[in-house]
Amino acid sequence: ETCCATSQLLQGVRVLITAGPTREAIDPVRFLTNRSSGKMGYAVASAAVSMGAEVMLVSGHVALDCPAGVSRVITESAADMLNATHEAAKQADVFIATAAVADYTPINVADRKIKKNAATLNLEMRRTTDILATIKQTYPHLFTVGFAAETHDLMTYARSKLERKNIDMIAANSVANGKAFDQPTNALEVVWKDGHTSLPEMDKHQLAVALMQLVAAQYLQRKQ
Ligand code: CTP
Ligand code: CA
Repeated sequence: ETCCATSQLLQGVRVLITAGPTREAIDPVRFLTNRSSGKMGYAVASAAVSMGAEVMLVSGHVALDCPAGVSRVITESAADMLNATHEAAKQADVFIATAAVADYTPINVADRKIKKNAATLNLEMRRTTDILATIKQTYPHLFTVGFAAETHDLMTYARSKLERKNIDMIAANSVANGKAFDQPTNALEVVWKDGHTSLPEMDKHQLAVALMQLVAAQYLQRKQ
């Protein structure tokens, strides 16, 4: 053999992954969150470990154990996740954003529990910072992979996110009709600047391995 076994393609490569949902506080007892079990991100973390990578996971609250060999930080809000990711990115070679990050956060967090006096309640919210785009902008050398969950026009949105966020690869999946969420299986359209491939519906662990093989191939090719 001239080189390494496929299984150890990412030997010594530091991979940073965001996963799971964020929580945006409304008052001391309530928050807004996103639908995300963290399964895909955790499967990507395990797949990267199995390929020899050093894996850091920045994760929202999920009902999953930290995969063996992974170092994990648990975060709360989108702002917390951004801070933790910023810190960890200083020691990473590859960044994969699988987290379902809140796009908006309440402008004012009530310091006391909101009582149900009025018949309606309005929350004023402002946009959160895009972790994926910000990290790529701050650390342009990072090989950066985004995810996109779409209910419609999957490929169009995937390509526009790839360009808009200036990232290296995007994995898009359809979430129409309750697909993907909390399911053991998923399918992905993986797109990069000069190529794309479809990974058909399969178990999220198998899918994560297939995705990481594409990531490794593009990352190693670019590094040459
Ligand atoms: N993402 C992020 N930080 C945010 C929002 C999104 O890091 N504040 C990342 C996600 O982890 C994912 C990618 O950006 O890898 C795409 O997320 P998505 O919600 O599909 O795209 P948005 O840019 O937020 O656009 P929209 O929700 O309008 O489709
Ligand atoms: Ca979003």
